Amino acid sequence: MKKLIAGNWKMHKTQKEAVETVTALVEMVSPLPEDREVLILPPYTSLSSVWNVIKDKQGFFLGGQNFYPAENGAFTGEISADMLLDVGCSFSLVGHSERRKYFKETDEFINQKVLFGLRKGLKIILCIGEELKERKEGKVFDVLKTQLLKGLKGVSSEDIENKLCIAYEPVWAIGTGEVATEDQIQEAHSLIRDLLIEMFDDKGKNIKILYGGSVSPENIKTILPISNVNGVLVGGASLEPEKFSKIILA
Ligand code: PGA
Repeated sequence: MKKLIAGNWKMHKTQKEAVETVTALVEMVSPLPEDREVLILPPYTSLSSVWNVIKDKQGFFLGGQNFYPAENGAFTGEISADMLLDVGCSFSLVGHSERRKYFKETDEFINQKVLFGLRKGLKIILCIGEELKERKEGKVFDVLKTQLLKGLKGVSSEDIENKLCIAYEPVWAIGTGEVATEDQIQEAHSLIRDLLIEMFDDKGKNIKILYGGSVSPENIKTILPISNVNGVLVGGASLEPEKFSKIILA
């Protein structure tokens, strides 16, 4: 399975900055190693400009950070799955912890997005992960299981062939510089793998599980080889081509 290295730019970069960043990045990592795929998740306003730079580059993909689960309509400030597909996206994140926290997204709403996005032909990266308090209370398994079961409710094995990824992002490790330990990552990813196999039989074995939370050029070499880690979702370190290229080439 190729390792998917995704860069979530969150609310960073104007179009000019986005194009400069991705142009420098492509130059630094080309030719991309056979076993790597790179996904760039810029803000909506830079999707088209980033797509123009990467569309002919082997192994590079574009994704949205979010979308609204309706065809179109009176949803001021939102964008649709078709709009993402229209500007070159093949992926979208769903249920990032910042969406859950600041925009009060529930597992039920996240599930609507998963179902809608898959139906539209977007590849979905469903983000899950526990808060520090939940970890301290020994609830990691319960939290991950609930988020997975609710987030993927009504999704069938036929729907997911090559179209679903899970990102395990412990909330306490996002943007904090505090990365989960190898044991914590290994344990969470194997729990997730077992649940996916329970839900989707053999097809659950092929779903990529990404780790996210303070991934950096310094820790990537210990994270990527962990079993059931099929890639990483990188925030802060993906904003700088020097750092992100080291993560991609690790
Ligand atoms: P971080 O963000 O790498 O800055 O911790 C990860 C994420 O939010 O996806």
